[in-house]
Amino acid sequence: MPLPWNDYSGRLSPLKLTVFVALFVPATWVMFAYALGLLGARPLNEAIHQIGLWTIRLIFLAMAVTPLRQILQWPRLILVRRMIGVAAFAYVLIHFSLYTASQAFDLGKVATEIALRIYLTIGFAALLGLAALAATSTDGMVRRLGGKRWQLLHRLVYAIAVLAVIHYCFQSKLDQWEPTIMAGLLLWLLAYRLLLWRLGLRGHLALPWVAGLSLAAAVATALGEAGYFRLAFHAPLVRVLETNLSLATGIRPAVIVLAISLAVTFAGVLRAVLIPAEERRVVGAARRQLTPSR
Ligand code: HEM
Repeated sequence: MPLPWNDYSGRLSPLKLTVFVALFVPATWVMFAYALGLLGARPLNEAIHQIGLWTIRLIFLAMAVTPLRQILQWPRLILVRRMIGVAAFAYVLIHFSLYTASQAFDLGKVATEIALRIYLTIGFAALLGLAALAATSTDGMVRRLGGKRWQLLHRLVYAIAVLAVIHYCFQSKLDQWEPTIMAGLLLWLLAYRLLLWRLGLRGHLALPWVAGLSLAAAVATALGEAGYFRLAFHAPLVRVLETNLSLATGIRPAVIVLAISLAVTFAGVLRAVLIPAEERRVVGAARRQLTPSR
């Protein structure tokens, strides 16, 4: 069985090793923080929250691999996508186990709660989706399913991410700051894929498109947030939209979505400027080699 930190040729990959080690850090930290009593008055509940947050972040990171490797012209990034996706599944299993522990391992109660509470039903559907992706993530399964069918199945990750964000929004009740950021980033990731598909590009989206997409995702996030405040608190739309232009109510989600997506665009510009012509040729060849089936 190939070691998780080796590349396809069986050589140690520093990138894979770094990511492999990094993926253990959040769960290990939560475990130690729990043991040392650093998780506040309701440590189990806090652990559920922390691991849930890392689950959603890992799903997003796995989805970001394709745009990032294209924008940064870094084809080898594909080597860590499977690892991050499998880690997301491991984290959701821990999240679910901790929830079961919080219900004193009463599986009947857990099942009833999942059936009755919509945010748990949605979370559980996302867990099942991740299980299907993890189960079909091996090289053997890719061969058995065939590249096209495998790709089609693994597009499920977008539906899973939507469910994950809804689960996050529903359980957060009043404080929608971070869920709104996640929703904005999800919009960017979905729109990137949609544009690639609509424009029929197998390579990557040109950087002006990426910048435009960043702006559009930020505007949509601002409108979404204003719409939420309008519906939930009858706040005037324009007043909420104006908060994006000042720091009076802290940094708004749309500004963070814009900062993250423009940072990626800027990194892409830097890479395009700095990359020497010869390397560009090698990167092009490597991309063609790594692109075909997955
Ligand atoms: C892919 C699937 C899932 C993801 C991405 C996910 C993610 C999250 C996130 C981000 C939070 C909020 C963290 C915070 O506010 O700090 C959360 C909370 C929570 N999740 Fe999940 N979750 C998933 C599946 C599940 C499942 C299957 C269950 C149980 C059946 C579950 C039970 C909970 C509970 C009980 C909370 C805390 C609710 C509260 O304190 O009111 N989640 N989850």
